[in-house]
Amino acid sequence: MMLFSSDQFYIVTGASSGIGEQTALLLNELGASVVAIARNKVRLEHLKQKCKYPENMYIEVKDLTSEITEISSFIKSLCKKFGKFSGMAYCAGVSCVKPLQLVDYGVMQDAFNINYFVPMLMTKALLDRRNNKGNGTSLVFVSSLDAQICTRGQSVYSGTKAALSASVKAISKEVSGAGIRLNSVLPSMIKTQMTEDYSKLYNVSEELQKDKYPWGWGEPLDVANLIVFLLSDKSKFISGQNYIIDSGGVI
Ligand SMILES: NC(=O)c1ccc[n+]([C@@H]2O[C@H](COP(=O)([O-])OP(=O)(O)OC[C@H]3O[C@@H](n4cnc5c(N)ncnc54)[C@H](OP(=O)(O)O)[C@@H]3O)[C@@H](O)[C@H]2O)c1
Repeated sequence: MMLFSSDQFYIVTGASSGIGEQTALLLNELGASVVAIARNKVRLEHLKQKCKYPENMYIEVKDLTSEITEISSFIKSLCKKFGKFSGMAYCAGVSCVKPLQLVDYGVMQDAFNINYFVPMLMTKALLDRRNNKGNGTSLVFVSSLDAQICTRGQSVYSGTKAALSASVKAISKEVSGAGIRLNSVLPSMIKTQMTEDYSKLYNVSEELQKDKYPWGWGEPLDVANLIVFLLSDKSKFISGQNYIIDSGGVI
């Protein structure tokens, strides 16, 4: 079933890996044109090779935190190339697991840059009516369950994600009159590179966390399905929501 058409262009950040990669693949499979952004060129080229309609997959190699104050020019340049956007899935992000005593301003800046400031600045640029298709435009942000269940060592990460989810809700109210929707999704543990790094560092595993996550850890596609639904017109009555997707009711 085609849920989108190829004249609908969506930005997907974090498209080189994990949740972003699956979102880019699914959007492409369902007919949309995707502008896939990340730093790792090899992985982006691999994404283009393995997607269903490579002619509708455009890759942009970019460190989103470099020239952070120039994000609006970057969005403008993308619009020049591809036309107005129908939406964005903001899936780029970094984890930051450190007790507060090991955190300094630099650590906070690194996490907030990619997890909060970049999505805010990209959103500001995309919400300029010269850069989006107006009514029906949808933006979806990957926050985290850690925005709500705040555990040891997650003070900075939880802060970035709680800030993102709160801002998404506020911005949705600013633009609802224009028919533009914003939502965020809050996954629990999902099997991606980020989780692999985390489990090695803290010696946790899906098996060891069976009590906490009754259905085990999720697959990136579990989250991509929700993101793509929220981008599509099938969710046209939904905006300003923060959706928990947490393997069987963690909270
Ligand atoms: N995995 C989980 O359990 C889980 C749970 C809740 C929420 N999340 C959130 O889900 C999102 C996706 O995470 P994931 O698990 O899919 O992790 P992942 O596989 O590590 O993917 C992270 C993505 O972010 C991109 N990225 C990071 N820094 C970037 C930068 N400066 N510029 C451009 N792109 C950048 C990476 O691309 P390059 O390295 O190629 O630049 C990569 O594509 C994150 O926001 C994460 O916080 C994950």
